[in-house]
Amino acid sequence: MGQWRPIVLALAVLAWSGVVVAGCPCEDASLCQPLKLGPRKEVFGFGSSQAAWTEYRLDVLTTIAWNTNKTLLCEAHRANVRVVAKAINVNETVFSDAATQAAWIDATVAMITENYLDGLNFDYESPINLSSPQRAQYVALVNNAARAIKKINPFAQISVDVAWGPYDVDGRNYDYVGLAAAADLLFIMAYDTRSQIYGPCLASANTPLGTAERGVQEYLALGIPASKLVLGLPWYGYDYPCVPNTQLNDTYCPIAAVPFQGAPCSDAAGREYDWTVFQRLFRNASVEQTTVRQDALLVSKTFNYVSDDGLVHQVWFDDQATLAPKFQLARQYDLLGTGVWNIDCLYDPSAPASQAGQVAAMWEAMAVFQH
Ligand SMILES: *[C@@H]1O[C@H](CO)[C@@H](O)[C@H](O)[C@H]1NC(C)=O
Ligand SMILES: *[C@@H]1O[C@H](CO)[C@@H](O)[C@H](O)[C@H]1NC(C)=O
Ligand SMILES: *[C@@H]1O[C@H](CO)[C@@H](O)[C@H](O)[C@H]1NC(C)=O
Ligand SMILES: *[C@@H]1O[C@H](CO)[C@@H](O)[C@H](O)[C@H]1NC(C)=O
Ligand SMILES: *[C@@H]1O[C@H](CO)[C@@H](O)[C@H](O)[C@H]1NC(C)=O
Repeated sequence: MGQWRPIVLALAVLAWSGVVVAGCPCEDASLCQPLKLGPRKEVFGFGSSQAAWTEYRLDVLTTIAWNTNKTLLCEAHRANVRVVAKAINVNETVFSDAATQAAWIDATVAMITENYLDGLNFDYESPINLSSPQRAQYVALVNNAARAIKKINPFAQISVDVAWGPYDVDGRNYDYVGLAAAADLLFIMAYDTRSQIYGPCLASANTPLGTAERGVQEYLALGIPASKLVLGLPWYGYDYPCVPNTQLNDTYCPIAAVPFQGAPCSDAAGREYDWTVFQRLFRNASVEQTTVRQDALLVSKTFNYVSDDGLVHQVWFDDQATLAPKFQLARQYDLLGTGVWNIDCLYDPSAPASQAGQVAAMWEAMAVFQH
């Protein structure tokens, strides 16, 4: 890889400086230029569907992560929306071995320039303990990659996905201050907050309002500027099978004890489903179920139903009503922006036309900042 570096760099500089190289998928070749945009508020969405992207609201989003569709790239650039790549194959060797890291960075820069992309998103989520050399190594990798990418395109955006809070969530004791300094933004994954349950083994909300707020406050208290934080919220929820003998009308749903990262119970006792799946479920007249209620404390939607497996299940999800006050936290704390995992969760070709209004409301709830 090393000997190709000068050629890759030269091609990349040509591409960025306006001399269009072969392979631009857009009819208007100028749309293959990476966007040259200064700082702005972010509405950051992940998505990878090759079909659903045509429904993405390019007037709401500012950055789309991970979607590789070439036509999307052209349409996104036309609408001043960045498209950023997923950083792939990040592992301990890339952290610790200089030659492997240099080759990884070369390959990543080439992937970004060859695909006319606007930046890179890191989604490393493995545990790192407080005494591990990997804490510093991850920061150094993000720094080195950011420098190499910005040499080609100073407007490129580098983002790092981080846990809902900075303190040992899932064993991720990263150097969050260092990562924030190395990157343009941290995407706070304010979901999966029941990945480690230390209290009673019960089903509960994916993103309680108070937990999302606490995570934001903890990142700010570390000294990370609000202007580097994007609050990411879920367009998916959890379906938990309750233990046998749970009644349909029971408020609490005890779940199997599935340990995770030192905690006796976790959301691994349940399964994640897209927002649209739960819409279909609670509209289904042949499923015995309770009405959907909003939990006032957790600011989340929930209902029980009797599954085909004969067990009562409890569902926890978010909709426009529960997400709106959570997205508003980004305004309240003057964060860089809002975001979502993931955009594709809204789309379902088999959904009735009557669902379109709710889909629009989901977008509106996230759009607390103007494009
Ligand atoms: C990109 O999206 C368009 C529209 O959905 C689709 O027709 C096309 O097949 C996609 N490209 C790939 C490589 O899947
Ligand atoms: C780590 O990733 C590098 C490149 O991304 C790859 O060459 C190597 O085989 C990987 N090593 C392990 C142990 O997965
Ligand atoms: C921390 O992680 C390192 C690997 O990076 C490991 O060698 C070490 O034993 C761990 N320390 C503790 C206290 O778990
Ligand atoms: C559950 O409660 C509803 C009213 O809230 C009632 O109509 C129904 O009979 C109850 N079902 C059971 C199994 O107790
Ligand atoms: C409604 O639920 C029944 C029973 O689980 C299932 O067989 C059917 O496919 C569901 N219908 C829809 C539209 O999801």
